[in-house]
Amino acid sequence: MTTIAVTGATGHLGRLVVEALIARGAAPGDIVAAVRDTAKAAPLAALGVQVRRADYDEPPTLAAAFAGVDRLLLISGNAVGQRVPQHRAVIDAAVAAGVGFLAYTSILRADSSPIGLAPEHLATEQALAASGIPTALLRNGWYIENYAGSVAGALHTGTIAGSAGDGRIAAATRADYAEAAAAVLLSGEAGVYELGGTPFTMAELAAEVAEQSGKPVAYQDLPVAEYQAVLAGLGLPEAYAGLLADTDFKITEGHLDTGSDDLAKLIGRPSTPLSEAVAALLKA
Ligand SMILES: NC(=O)c1ccc[n+]([C@@H]2O[C@H](COP(=O)([O-])OP(=O)(O)OC[C@H]3O[C@@H](n4cnc5c(N)ncnc54)[C@H](OP(=O)(O)O)[C@@H]3O)[C@@H](O)[C@H]2O)c1
Repeated sequence: MTTIAVTGATGHLGRLVVEALIARGAAPGDIVAAVRDTAKAAPLAALGVQVRRADYDEPPTLAAAFAGVDRLLLISGNAVGQRVPQHRAVIDAAVAAGVGFLAYTSILRADSSPIGLAPEHLATEQALAASGIPTALLRNGWYIENYAGSVAGALHTGTIAGSAGDGRIAAATRADYAEAAAAVLLSGEAGVYELGGTPFTMAELAAEVAEQSGKPVAYQDLPVAEYQAVLAGLGLPEAYAGLLADTDFKITEGHLDTGSDDLAKLIGRPSTPLSEAVAALLKA
């Protein structure tokens, strides 16, 4: 029996990883859903998995949650700017608990990416390397679901805004990344995985939305400062809007593309096509 724990299991990706582990044959009782808020975990408990509290900001909860765990998926937290100490706390607790394998959701080419989100991931990768635990770096590309809001808005405005130019985005669905994570957790194969789907441009995304919705939708490329203002206008804090707009511009330089077929290899099939992913966004 191999006990596998997933942190952030009440999040969008974490829940899908738990489901993918079960779909790939793991016994629910051998899975630990490590969650910040157990009150949110009723749907996970209903799957028959163990629910344990694990808050990245409360190390004693991590020590207790990882007792008896053989393999652990650390899902990167969502508190941008606070994640390095949080992730270090998880890694320290994993070492102390004798976890034998740790997978981490990182970012494409974390060791060379100029994207503003990359340094926290690189620092985490470095902490993992120093921990001595065999690791799998799941360097995830963009989620297609990141465009859910833009797609919904475009049905009213007719435009999807961005600063990505005609850069290629090797995005994939969260479900595809979750399946890849489950495959790695079940195989226990250490390594660096650069994960992404079949690349598309923003114009191609807009065209797909237009075709499926029957409404005129086009991509509108904006200078970074203007796109930042659009994002801030949607309610994002100014600094975070700036980070995201700059990240979007980095797409023009290919930093969210990947020539790797690691995702398809891990899941044993091609990644979900853009048409299917857009259909799901339009249904949501
Ligand atoms: N590749 C991409 O395009 C992309 C896009 C966005 C984010 N990400 C990264 O991928 C991660 C997973 O994505 P997602 O869509 O599943 O995000 P999500 O739905 O926001 O899930 C994040 C999870 O982290 C948990 N968490 C946050 N702070 C925590 C803490 N202090 N202690 C324990 N757990 C904590 C949250 O717990 P609660 O359920 O209690 O809130 C949640 O379960 C994100 O956190 C982020 O690092 C990647």
